[in-house]
Amino acid sequence: MRILLLGSGGREHAIARALRRDPAVTVIHCAPGNAGTAEISENHVLDVTDPVAVVELAKRLRPGLVVIGPEAPLMAGVADAVRQSGLPCFGPDAAAARIEGSKAFAKEIMAAAGVPTAAARVCASAAEVAAALDEFGPPYVVKDDGLAAGKGVVVTRDRATAERHAADCDRVVVEAYLDGPEVSVFALSDGANVVPLLPAQDFKRAYDHDEGPNTGGMGAYAPLPWAPPGLAEEVVATVVRPAIAELARRETPYSGLLYAGLALTAHGLRVVEFNARFGDPETQVVLDRLGTPLSGVLQECAMGGLPPGTALEWLPGAAVTVVVAAENYPGTPAKGDPIAGIDEAERVPGAYVLHAGTRRDHEGVLMSAGGRVLNVVGVGADIAAARKTVYEAVGKIRMRGAHYRTDIAAAPPSSPSSP
Ligand code: GLY
Repeated sequence: MRILLLGSGGREHAIARALRRDPAVTVIHCAPGNAGTAEISENHVLDVTDPVAVVELAKRLRPGLVVIGPEAPLMAGVADAVRQSGLPCFGPDAAAARIEGSKAFAKEIMAAAGVPTAAARVCASAAEVAAALDEFGPPYVVKDDGLAAGKGVVVTRDRATAERHAADCDRVVVEAYLDGPEVSVFALSDGANVVPLLPAQDFKRAYDHDEGPNTGGMGAYAPLPWAPPGLAEEVVATVVRPAIAELARRETPYSGLLYAGLALTAHGLRVVEFNARFGDPETQVVLDRLGTPLSGVLQECAMGGLPPGTALEWLPGAAVTVVVAAENYPGTPAKGDPIAGIDEAERVPGAYVLHAGTRRDHEGVLMSAGGRVLNVVGVGADIAAARKTVYEAVGKIRMRGAHYRTDIAAAPPSSPSSP
């Protein structure tokens, strides 16, 4: 099968890598891709948020499946346009992708479907924000209602910071704080049936000990040895199936991957957020552990034929990924810094490097081109071994201003406070 994969991050390099080892996949086209995807696929220059341009490229390449990686093309209606052109597409239509694109819409779906989540108020004025902050108290959780590339959420004990963030957004959702370890559970769906993937954990704050600003994610690991048994099945039963059923009831069926970001609170699991696509960087570790060939299940989702009771195979062992970020990420990251040391990193047994924000200059020199530059992945018999491997490999990377967290997968998360 020929695949056209849209996107340019570490997630897309991880998806391309998983498709590369799938015997059913003959050719991978990536648009626009990065310097890493260029090594295993054919990259194409493309504005992935332009449905007309995407359909034009897809008609020229005639892939058996178009896979949409990031959220922006989903919100722009690219999946709708690809499907209307007659090609199978993995990723929800714009109407269903609003579950990520609007925090208020996600709350509406959860309320209608009885999905457990934090109490919340949708606020469009300073007075409404002040009332909601009074109601819920600190720590304050203020979420931009729209897309913000992982940077729209502020969690703070400082009231002025919370109010400033709300003032910078058109409309916000102010929520009660959820206390407890966070877990990401992805589920594949064809609009009716649902298959969960391996639960993972990511690290959203920029610096060690969960300090600093929120980012798109600074590292991740899977599996989660400390997670309650049956977690993925519980998430499917209490979160994913009800949400998918509610979207189907509204005649906006959800086909693609639904990402449930959860807090495991003392009162049970609660949804923190939904995303309408594979998470980044969790995908890098989850797909590393996937034993089932990827293209078949993505195609079944796209074509509406995911068999009930499908169970994916998972490789034994563990994977940890650490994001190497550019100077000043997540503010205004520096770009154009030469990157060295990838070959040395990949000589560490069990380690490899996925590209995120990278490109080659006209002389072929690898340069940084985004905030999250590389995802170094370490694989081992358990989390401790994978962690040792990944940090040995990260130490080989050389880039001016590079920074990374040193505590990814360091310790099991602390339990939530008692009720
Ligand atoms: N890792 C968080 C996200 O993908 O949004």
